[in-house]
Amino acid sequence: MSVQTPRPAPLADYGMLGPIGPLVADPLVTEVMVMGADAVYVEIHGHIVLTNIRFASTEELMHMIRFIVESVGRRIDDESPLCDARLADGSRVHAVIPPIAVDGPMLTIRKFAHDPYTEADLIALGSCTAAGFAFLRSCVLARANILISGGTGTGKTTLLNLLSGYIPSDARIVTIEDAAELQLRQGHVARLESRPPDADGRKQVTIRDLVITSLRMRPDRIVVGEVRGPEALDMLQAMNTGHEGSMTTVHANKSRDALSRIETMVLMAGIELPIKAIRQQVASAFNILVHLDRLRDGTRRVVEISEITGMEDDTISTQGVFRFASAGATASGSVQGHFEPSGLRPRILDRLPVMGLPTPPELAGLFPGLGPAGRPPLA
Ligand SMILES: Nc1ncnc2c1ncn2[C@@H]1O[C@H](COP(=O)(O)OP(=O)(O)OP(=O)(O)O)[C@@H](O)[C@H]1O
Ligand SMILES: [Mg+2]
Repeated sequence: MSVQTPRPAPLADYGMLGPIGPLVADPLVTEVMVMGADAVYVEIHGHIVLTNIRFASTEELMHMIRFIVESVGRRIDDESPLCDARLADGSRVHAVIPPIAVDGPMLTIRKFAHDPYTEADLIALGSCTAAGFAFLRSCVLARANILISGGTGTGKTTLLNLLSGYIPSDARIVTIEDAAELQLRQGHVARLESRPPDADGRKQVTIRDLVITSLRMRPDRIVVGEVRGPEALDMLQAMNTGHEGSMTTVHANKSRDALSRIETMVLMAGIELPIKAIRQQVASAFNILVHLDRLRDGTRRVVEISEITGMEDDTISTQGVFRFASAGATASGSVQGHFEPSGLRPRILDRLPVMGLPTPPELAGLFPGLGPAGRPPLA
């Protein structure tokens, strides 16, 4: 059984998007950002570029925004000037209009990846190495709970999609998202999507509601698109009580902020627990932290993989597994560097023999006790 929320009514084609239709249709464009009628930016190859596309007038732009928003049964006006919607192709749309948008209506379209990046793609792009992915695959097979962190647009959802793909197909997976972006290939996936409140502030179904609901659906693993609020508490409890192998993402610009952000979110759930007890729950829930960043040259990379090893006094202790060590940039600005193993043997790998799983050959020599030494492949 697969649980799905109703899809929005499809837009006829990109032609309905007026002057920005060709940009949204262009496979090289990953994001389209409209800043009033006279400025349309796109992101291509990780760089933001101003295009020469213009709307004839603010009215034309407003008309298109209303069309998009109404096609998913929502409305945008003075009373509710912010709106999230989705195009029929799955692209995420965010619109904001005056008076909130000071200089005119704005629209941000995150293009849906029809052909999501594969492990080989990300290795070719220099985002991670074969050894890095071999380690992460082993973590997923060993039922590690994984937290992916990074700033806006650093590739969190893309990596979550890829790591979810390593989950064995005999597991019952429940996915929970604000906007269904994940594209799992396994057959047995129950997909849940939250719902914002309607114009009267009713009918909202939050991510937290869905995490709680999912626990009654006998999931083996829960994949939450992004934790932003009190659902962090329910997620921790799920991870600590038999749903090992779950994963989620969190918005954090620095790796070390990711776990404290989770703590803050747990506090938002309004529970009366001392901070140390919350920290203990965080430390025992998550095993692996993967941090992503977008570098100066526009490339998105896994910059750090670390293992959460427990608590030392009042702090959560972590141990590095891999990190991207930057070695400057070329004349053209391209960032060089190596994805280096820490040299400390990750404890999670000890689960592999116990679970009857092989240790991946890509990790041989990278960590003590894993075969002959060898230099890690270049990033
Ligand atoms: N490793 C990568 N290399 C190049 N482009 C990437 C990489 N990972 C993701 N992208 C592209 O970057 C854009 C943002 O990716 P994604 O949606 O995964 O980021 P995110 O961190 O989840 O963003 P948000 O914070 O908005 O949720 C997408 O267009 C995606 O295709
Ligand atoms: Mg995302």
